[in-house]
Amino acid sequence: MLKSPIPIRRPLRRALRRLKLGASATRHTLVGRPEVWQLKRDFQIAFLRAQGLAPDDRFLDIGCGTLRGGIPVIEHLHAGRYTGLEVRAEVIAEAWRELEAAGLEHKDPRLIQNSDFDALGLDHRVDVAWAFSVLFHMTDEIAGAAISFVGRHLAPQGRCFANVCLGEAPDGSWQGFPVVTRPLRFYEQLAETAGLTVTPLGRLDELGHPAHLPDASQVMLEMTPRKA
Ligand SMILES: C[S@@+](CC[C@H](N)C(=O)[O-])C[C@H]1O[C@@H](n2cnc3c(N)ncnc32)[C@H](O)[C@@H]1O
Repeated sequence: MLKSPIPIRRPLRRALRRLKLGASATRHTLVGRPEVWQLKRDFQIAFLRAQGLAPDDRFLDIGCGTLRGGIPVIEHLHAGRYTGLEVRAEVIAEAWRELEAAGLEHKDPRLIQNSDFDALGLDHRVDVAWAFSVLFHMTDEIAGAAISFVGRHLAPQGRCFANVCLGEAPDGSWQGFPVVTRPLRFYEQLAETAGLTVTPLGRLDELGHPAHLPDASQVMLEMTPRKA
């Protein structure tokens, strides 16, 4: 006689879960070290909430990656308020999978593959622009184009937050992107050209980021439209 199907189903379910976990662990490596993935997710939403991100805000996530930071933000926002930009097509594909796994398709986010900020235009202004661990992975030219893009799309009362590595050091590399350290003056000049003012808000560890990680010494910049 056949045994109950339960003992068969359980290992199958476990194997499927392992497969799924394996897939998401691989996905997590696309945006950084998997062991800090959850900390980076938690920091992003905690910071943005502390800055007063409102459910009705129009939100732009520059370099959204696989939605490590994006998922809790999408959850917090009303439907249709989130736009993510990402340069790598395979990463956007994983971002859609992450959205599906989180059951948040009904929030109707827009994910755009973008490789040229100068050629891109959104059909709306944004209240909050966010570039988490992104600006320092850009060449100087692309960082300039990204900040100009922010200047063209921020609402008059809008704010952009971006963490950067301040100082002077030789460029490094990560997954085919540079890792750059630049003096504050560099970002001030790019912002000035884009009609924005820069205010350093502090080191990440002063803003709730776990202090034991080396990234804690990065500085969060706020960019806002320059007042006339
Ligand atoms: C360290 S990951 C951070 C991803 C996301 N912000 C997060 O915190 O999970 C940096 C991301 O920026 C993306 N990126 C780099 N240059 C870009 C560009 N020019 N335009 C859009 N995305 C870019 C990379 O592909 C990568 O997914």
